[in-house]
Parts: sequence; C-alpha cells; structure tokens
Amino acid sequence: MTHLETDGYLLTTHDVYAQAASDPDASLCCTTSPVWALPGLVVPQQMLEMNYGCGTTVHLGDLRDDQTILYVGVGGGLEALQFAWFARRPGGVIAVDPVAQMREKAAENFAIAAQANPWFDPSFVSIIDGSALALPIDDQSVDIAAQNCLFNIFTGDHRRLALREISRVLRPHGRLILSDPISPIPMPEHLAQDQVLRARCLSGAPTYDQYMADLVAAGFGTIEVRRRMPYRLLDARRYELDANLMLESVEVVAIKDPVPADGACIFTGRTAFYIGDDEFFDDGKGHHMLKDLPLAICDKTAAALSALGRSDIVVTDSTWHYAGGGCC
Ligand SMILES: C[S@@+](CC[C@H](N)C(=O)[O-])C[C@H]1O[C@@H](n2cnc3c(N)ncnc32)[C@H](O)[C@@H]1O
Repeated sequence: MTHLETDGYLLTTHDVYAQAASDPDASLCCTTSPVWALPGLVVPQQMLEMNYGCGTTVHLGDLRDDQTILYVGVGGGLEALQFAWFARRPGGVIAVDPVAQMREKAAENFAIAAQANPWFDPSFVSIIDGSALALPIDDQSVDIAAQNCLFNIFTGDHRRLALREISRVLRPHGRLILSDPISPIPMPEHLAQDQVLRARCLSGAPTYDQYMADLVAAGFGTIEVRRRMPYRLLDARRYELDANLMLESVEVVAIKDPVPADGACIFTGRTAFYIGDDEFFDDGKGHHMLKDLPLAICDKTAAALSALGRSDIVVTDSTWHYAGGGCC
C-alpha cells in the first residue's frame, strides 16, 4: 500500500498539484527570490507562471558541471532547468514527482525551453514518477539534492522520512539544498489539520529549531543558513488566531558530513573577532583568529567562545546570510 493510499493529506496534496499543473495558480506559494539570469538561459513564461517555490535552491557556489542533481517535486520545471544549466548532459538532473499531471506539464515546459535555449536538450532532465517518501533512486548516487517548498507540506514524521531518504541517496559530503516556510511557534492544531492549507504550503511549517533538529537527525553534520525572509502573514481574523502569525521562508544547505560528537555545525552568519594584544587567538579546536579579522563560526563555536567571557573576543549575532568561505 502506498503513502498516497494511507494518508489523506497526501491525497489532497496530489489533487492540489494536479490542478496547479493544468491551471497555473499565482497565489500558490510565493517567492521573493530572483530568477537567476544565467548566461544563455532563457526561462519560458510557462515556467515563471508555475514558480511554486518559496525561495531558491540554486546557489551558484554549490554547483559544478560534473554533478548529478536530484530535484524532488518538479513543479513547472524552473529550478530543474536552472540546475541543468550546470549539469548539461542526459540525466544530469533527475526530477522526481508523484503527480502525473505535474510531470507531464514539466515535460511540456522542457520541450518549450529547448526551443529557446540552444544549449539545452530535454534529455538533460530525467522526469521520474516517485515520492520523496520512497525515492526511486539508488543509495549514494547523487551529489546534490534539492527541494523547494515541498517538505513543509509533510507531517513531522513524513518530513523526517523524506530527509532520511535524501540522506540515503546522497553521496558522502553531498549537499541537500532546501527552501521551506518556517513558523515562529508550533503550528496551531486547527491550521495543522487543515489539509488544503497544508498542501498550499501555509500550515505545515515547522519551527526553525525543529527543522534544524530534523536535518541533524537525518545525518547532516554541517548546515548553512543562506537566507531567511518574510513569507506569509496568517492574519488573526481570517485564520482564527490569537495574534497574527508571520511565517518566514528559510534557504538552507545541509551537507552530509558526519555529525560531530558535540553536535552539528550550524552556520547562521555569525562571526568572531579577536581584538587582544597578541597577533592571534587560537582556541585549540581549529579556530585560529587573526587579530582584528572576522572568522566565520558556527553557532556551537559562537556559544563556546562567548562562554569564555573574554573582553578581547567579540562574537556577532546571526545575519542569516551564510554562503561558506571566509577571509584569509
Ligand atoms: C509547492 S510545489 C513546488 C514545486 C517546485 N519545487 C517549485 O519550486 O516551483 C510542490 C511540488 O511537489 C510535488 N509533490 C507533491 N507531493 C510529493 C511527494 N510526496 N514527493 C515528491 N514531490 C511531491 C508536487 O506535484 C509539486 O510539483
């Protein structure tokens, strides 16, 4: 028996996206992220009208031309096309979606994209029938996996299952790139139980802490928060709440590094400065801070350095914009 047969909300999800495939719905999800203008990339209008994400999962620094990319929940194909710009070969991108109408629409859109993009062939994206909850993909066979505005639809148990599935198919040190709504409080029960709101990415959002905990539990030892931004305001009157509820969307890259014994390294844009009398400060745990220069640190290190209580070490707050790297 499949998940679709046993879980009513997945049936509703199926219906919502079957409809959204045949009749593009601008109010379904929303993104304020730019559509990347990559050299020679022309995105068909049909794909823009089916941009059902809540951010972007295409981060240029993660991508090379020799990677195999798994995209879960193809939608109109916009991001799969953008990924194919990097992985330009048959099957370079594998797009998995259980909704036949969505797969058909995406295939149609890729055929249109091929006419406008001489570098692109529809064979660059293999569209496969399957679910995030039981990926039809071999163990450790992909370098990059991405999902945009899908995992928030799932219940907590299903989200954790989907993350374990992604972890299974990623190669060691592979990257999962996600974009999802998050909620500042656990979603009130009457909204969480509303299957249509959930399918429309409005009432399944986990809290930030829960989202991170689920990623770590699935075996992602390094996590980078790339961006956080307002997503939707659920107003108190319409949604029968005590107060307005502001959902954010978060863009995250989770790397399948082993989880360290003292916890995952979660980078949220925090920085440490050493401003003392010596040339540098070294904490003996791999953090070598040159005097006056910023060192990007994870939240765990930020807490440890702050706990030293030294006036010559300054730790900055999360910017929620971290894209790897650092100075020197
Ligand atoms: C909110 S849309 C996002 C589409 C696309 N990622 C984008 O950014 O435009 C969710 C997508 O996930 C698909 N979907 C629904 N249930 C799924 C499941 N269990 N596994 C994989 N994809 C699913 C839907 O058909 C739809 O294409």
